[in-house]
Amino acid sequence: MTKTAPSPKKLHIRTYGCQMNVYDSSRMADVLAPLGYTWTDDAEGADMVILNTCHIREKAAEKVYSELGRLRLQKEARSSADEPLVIAVAGCVAQAEGDEVKRRAPWVDMVFGPQAYHNLPDMVQAAARGAGVVETDFPAAPKFDALPDEAISQGPSAFLTVQEGCDKFCTFCVVPYTRGAEYSRPADDILAEARRLVASGSAEITLLGQNVNAYHGDGPDGGAWSLGRLIEAFQSVEGLARLRYTTSHPLDMDAELIAAHRDFDVLMPYLHLPVQSGSDRVLAAMNRRHKAADYLRVVDLLREARPDIALSGDFIVGFPGETEADFEATLDLVRRVGYASAYSFKYSPRPGTPAATLDDQVEEAVQVERLARLQDLINSQQFDFNKSTVGLTFDVLLERPGKHEGQLMGRSPYNQSVHVHDAVSAGLKLGTLAKVRVSEGLPNSVAATALASADAA
Ligand code: 5AD
Ligand code: SF4
Repeated sequence: MTKTAPSPKKLHIRTYGCQMNVYDSSRMADVLAPLGYTWTDDAEGADMVILNTCHIREKAAEKVYSELGRLRLQKEARSSADEPLVIAVAGCVAQAEGDEVKRRAPWVDMVFGPQAYHNLPDMVQAAARGAGVVETDFPAAPKFDALPDEAISQGPSAFLTVQEGCDKFCTFCVVPYTRGAEYSRPADDILAEARRLVASGSAEITLLGQNVNAYHGDGPDGGAWSLGRLIEAFQSVEGLARLRYTTSHPLDMDAELIAAHRDFDVLMPYLHLPVQSGSDRVLAAMNRRHKAADYLRVVDLLREARPDIALSGDFIVGFPGETEADFEATLDLVRRVGYASAYSFKYSPRPGTPAATLDDQVEEAVQVERLARLQDLINSQQFDFNKSTVGLTFDVLLERPGKHEGQLMGRSPYNQSVHVHDAVSAGLKLGTLAKVRVSEGLPNSVAATALASADAA
């Protein structure tokens, strides 16, 4: 019997939120490829649109419903002779709200959580029969076992999920509820996926996990491997130029992982290490299980191991009960660390989390004012960091064309965005590592010039 190829269809996935969602979206495209779906950037011309959603803050979740309103019109506008547009809601809003999504937007065909997308072929069939699909199963293990080896190239810089879920239960955070309990993939599976990514043209890999440094996957030697041990094993991935990992919890920065920053050149000198607040009182109310001094100690150890490491973080302002003195302790911590970049957010109460029902919620106006002060400080630190790199020479992984003719853009080892002005005239190519010298530090990026190979020595 001959197998007929499935009819070609166009798939558009709109990704919200974190890098893990970006990875999940690319894996959904891999699962749907054998059904004849090819990627399109054009949502209007698509036969299936998946919104891969984020529930971390209220704003992120609300965007989904307004986008679904637009998609309803697109579905209605398709001529009746056409196959209907298939609309899916995936990710953490789907996981957290499940049937509620179908209730608020009945024109949605499939609702599925982050641990269910390996079942997409069955879900697509069920949706075609008109059955409402809502899949919000846990845990993560069956998904990873079922995902195909074949993957569409992610380009020069790729994501690889090594760990999912979180057991920390910070009182503001929905992740333990939407992504479930911690699960670590076996080391061999991860290394095999890394080799396939390199073979498909990726020079950089970012290992992903909601709490990536809590990684404790089965090693080929029968023991549980830490993230530090896994990174050591990445030495054997030939052709891999750069390795990163995100996002980490300060309590899980163990000695082996800190030493990896000293010992392995493939590991880039950059770390995103959220602290959320500089006040011990607020840290306790957040259930972070460490004090500001513990975080600062980890920062010192990291800098001993890798003196030039660039640090980034996450902060929440206006957590319930946060006083002006608590907030000033956060500013103080930021001054002590000196960040190369950082993200900061107003506290957003999330349904079902312990902090959402605390009495002493901070007024919006106070949150806005504190956020502005914190962001001013972070922005000035970022600008200072960028200026401090002027004159340095380093490799840039060229990932995309710049805004101006002849420019290419990429990332420095410190994760700065770099514009290489003369990239095209110097013969540099997208997807490659190029030696450059930094010529100017800008608020959000640096400018650099290409180095001829003789200068680069
Ligand atoms: N409100 C505001 N920010 C939040 N984050 C997580 N939950 C909330 C919330 N309820 C922030 C934290 C986390 C980042 C991914 O999002 O800073 O590190
Ligand atoms: Fe959320 Fe991170 Fe805390 Fe886990 S460690 S609960 S993912 S903020």
